[in-house]
Amino acid sequence: MKRIEIAPSILNANFANLEQEIKKVESLGVKFLHFDIMDGHFVPNISFGTPVLSCVSSASNLINDVHLMISDPKKYSPDFKKAGADIITFHYEACSSNDEVLETIEFLKSLDVKVGLSIKPATTVEEIMPFLFLVDVVLVMSVEPGFGGQKFNPNAIEKIKKLDEIRCELDLNYIIEVDGGINDKTAHDCNLAGADLLVCGTYLYKSKNIEEDYKKLFE
Ligand code: DX5
Ligand code: ZN
Repeated sequence: MKRIEIAPSILNANFANLEQEIKKVESLGVKFLHFDIMDGHFVPNISFGTPVLSCVSSASNLINDVHLMISDPKKYSPDFKKAGADIITFHYEACSSNDEVLETIEFLKSLDVKVGLSIKPATTVEEIMPFLFLVDVVLVMSVEPGFGGQKFNPNAIEKIKKLDEIRCELDLNYIIEVDGGINDKTAHDCNLAGADLLVCGTYLYKSKNIEEDYKKLFE
């Protein structure tokens, strides 16, 4: 099976000791760090903003994978770029029209970041077909956005397979990223379905033996 990459999500890290928590996942050999930005409006939860990203960004050499679960992503994305975002992913559902999705993609490209488009469990792959040739990352939510520690929604598997088929048929090269409820079992299924990058929060940060559990993600 092809090798997937893991993007640890700091959402459930111990914020009282964040530098230590970052080093913990860096020592596993990950290349990405996932930042779950929540505004309490697009999702019913508030997490953290650019101050945390800029502190972490200056203390690590990982690729900063910023997941904007916010309304009006265009308005705030320059701040996240300035704070160190390498990938900025926004939600299809945060836009009121396809034109707005296109404008947001173009605007993010102008910021010179990798552009990700995320879909909630209830949104189909067909709805984002017009944008697939424009984005660098498609982030498939396998939970309802807003909280870590939720159960994996198996409808993500069909979406991953479909995105992988489309990518092959149309010779596109977006990364398929999956976010929510990733553990040693669901990681295997996502990998088999064609996913490339898996966001992992609770499974790693609440692990009693992070090295052991990390290895199981690739089995
Ligand atoms: C949901 C968040 C979570 C988080 C990872 O809005 O995006 O999916 O990153 O959560 P767990 O703890 O399920 O890995
Ligand atoms: Zn996320």
